[in-house]
Amino acid sequence: MYATPFLDLPPLRSAGGIVTLPGSKSISNRVLLLAALSDGETTLHDLLDSDDTRVMLAALETLGCSVSRLGDQRVKVRGLGGGLPVRDAQLFLGNAGTAMRPLTAALALLASTHGGTFELSGIPRMHERPIGDLVDALRQLGCPVACLGKEGYPPLRVGMGVPAPLLLEAPIRVRGDVSSQFLTALLLALPLVATRDVVIEVVGELISKPYIEITLSLLQRFGVAVQREGWQRFTIPAGSRYRSPGDVHVEGDASSASYFIALGAIAPASAGHDGITIQGVGLSSIQGDIRFVEAARAMGADVSGSANQLRIRRGAWPLKAIDLDCNHIPDAAMTLAVMALYAEGTTTLRNIASWRVKETDRIAAMACELRKLGAAVEEGEDVIRITPPQTWRPASIHTYDDHRVAMCFSLAAFNPAQRPLRIEDPKCVAKTFPDYFETLFSVCEAQPGEIPVICIDGPTASGKGTLAMEVAAALGYHVLDSGVLYRLVGLAAERRGIPTDPNALAQPGVAERLGSLAAALPVRFEAGRVLLDGEDVTDAVRTESAGMAASRVSALPQVRQALLDLQHRFRTLPGLVADGRDMGTVIFPDAPLKVFLTASAEQRALRRHNQLISKGIPARIEDLLADLRARDERDTSRRDAPLKPAEDAYRLDNSEQSIEQSVQQVLAWWQAARPFEGG
Ligand code: DC
Repeated sequence: MYATPFLDLPPLRSAGGIVTLPGSKSISNRVLLLAALSDGETTLHDLLDSDDTRVMLAALETLGCSVSRLGDQRVKVRGLGGGLPVRDAQLFLGNAGTAMRPLTAALALLASTHGGTFELSGIPRMHERPIGDLVDALRQLGCPVACLGKEGYPPLRVGMGVPAPLLLEAPIRVRGDVSSQFLTALLLALPLVATRDVVIEVVGELISKPYIEITLSLLQRFGVAVQREGWQRFTIPAGSRYRSPGDVHVEGDASSASYFIALGAIAPASAGHDGITIQGVGLSSIQGDIRFVEAARAMGADVSGSANQLRIRRGAWPLKAIDLDCNHIPDAAMTLAVMALYAEGTTTLRNIASWRVKETDRIAAMACELRKLGAAVEEGEDVIRITPPQTWRPASIHTYDDHRVAMCFSLAAFNPAQRPLRIEDPKCVAKTFPDYFETLFSVCEAQPGEIPVICIDGPTASGKGTLAMEVAAALGYHVLDSGVLYRLVGLAAERRGIPTDPNALAQPGVAERLGSLAAALPVRFEAGRVLLDGEDVTDAVRTESAGMAASRVSALPQVRQALLDLQHRFRTLPGLVADGRDMGTVIFPDAPLKVFLTASAEQRALRRHNQLISKGIPARIEDLLADLRARDERDTSRRDAPLKPAEDAYRLDNSEQSIEQSVQQVLAWWQAARPFEGG
């Protein structure tokens, strides 16, 4: 997950490959609650692990439910079987509507039958999302429900400590035209108290019907067969009782699939690939958002698939503008709004009033951010109309703590004008898809020359490595510590008995052998560790003797040449910070930012000394200073890749600076080189 303040996407050119999606949020939170309310144990497979499911799991545990995380996205829940071991609790539900609404209903009913009091709250945005229609329905049932802030909004308190009689005879009337989640909440909760037939009547035209179908289908899995007359009247039969089905497999999230369906429709196929394959969700999905496929096809996507898989290729290009009632796919329809940027003509998405009460006011948010890219957007109470940009602009996309805004706008990185794109607060995708950007990058390609590289060159012990790591962490970029590659060659030579002392290096054939060794260096970088021939050498490469050997072998053109390709391969999405003395001059001469970092020899000797001592390695400053000077002399005067700043490098003498100050300086240079306003 990218926890950086923003994530810059360079222009993306093509896409291809296989993605496996995380589990559906709607299914995950429903089955978690159903498992918790059932008799017996349920093992949930492929459960989504995200902010919204975590708050649900935490709430269930607070309520006394036993939950075991089995690894591999499997969770075992021992249900409460209609009991209520904890009668008084405060539950924090973040911004998860799929936790707030059903838990409110279930706890209101359980508090009335068993006695109990529960408070449910969330983040400030949750307290702006209406729940009044559900509160009204629960009050009709005789449940005590208090709105602790504004009437009709969370936070809420349900129950009053002692049992209260429920009024189950008359049909319960609930509005269906603001959010289908109120009806879902009642459908999930009422089987707990169905001592007689319980009838729900929907007032107004029910929106987002496919979500009700998910609810009904999952109720069936847990032993409750709701009878439905049209979309107006639902009857929960007397004697309904939740029974665990044992194992439940959660489908991949169809709303998350929309970004990759759109990707396949927008991006030319990468060489060697035939579009995008999505695993874990297919054409027979029970999720309503699978009907996004029809809308994407109408815009030109070529989609085929099977029960559990989808394949997408670019079909019509440019895409075709559509005019669509999106009531059945409210969440995925946001992705259509970004596809509209690549269409010929104006796209109209209608009947999307529910966007206004989601994670943010999504109509306003989409309109504002689409305009930043240069699109012409008209916004109505329940409609949005998008005409593609005549001139694309580089934009910094504000994401409103709304995962879907962040995910759908990433697709604007395919803009034909090749403008870079900034996504602010990328970690908001954690609500439903924590690894969204990693997954996207794994199937997207950019022109290597367009993937940004920040080079940090400079003499040994100037603090390049630390600076590079911190800058990379702030930007979400990869790191190349090129010194390690030379150290690895030195170490590998030693282990294979190839001498690297000056006399040996002068012997015929030795430089060539070292070059061959470097060209096929058996190295892997894994989770911050360096493996040579499979052995962890993270510490061994850091020793002074490995450094000295590196300094000697790095003077050989054969070795330098052999490592070129390996170094270029580090330039991957979304970007790279490369540290080493020739990064800006030889390896990445086209890098958009180059920094030459120096510090006085005395300062560097002192820093290296402190570093060694802190690791318990004895060292004398005078020796280190002499070594450094010798190494500087050799590195500066050597014929191949001598130590010198690139002409277009910024000089940074950090003798008197803290690391933090140097990092801020480099980030300021980087911001200034980016085309985003404000930033
Ligand atoms: O930065 P360092 O101490 O890890 O580098 C080890 C040696 O490798 C150093 O003496 C110079 C050499 N080197 C190089 O020649 N070119 C690079 N890009 C990086 C390091």
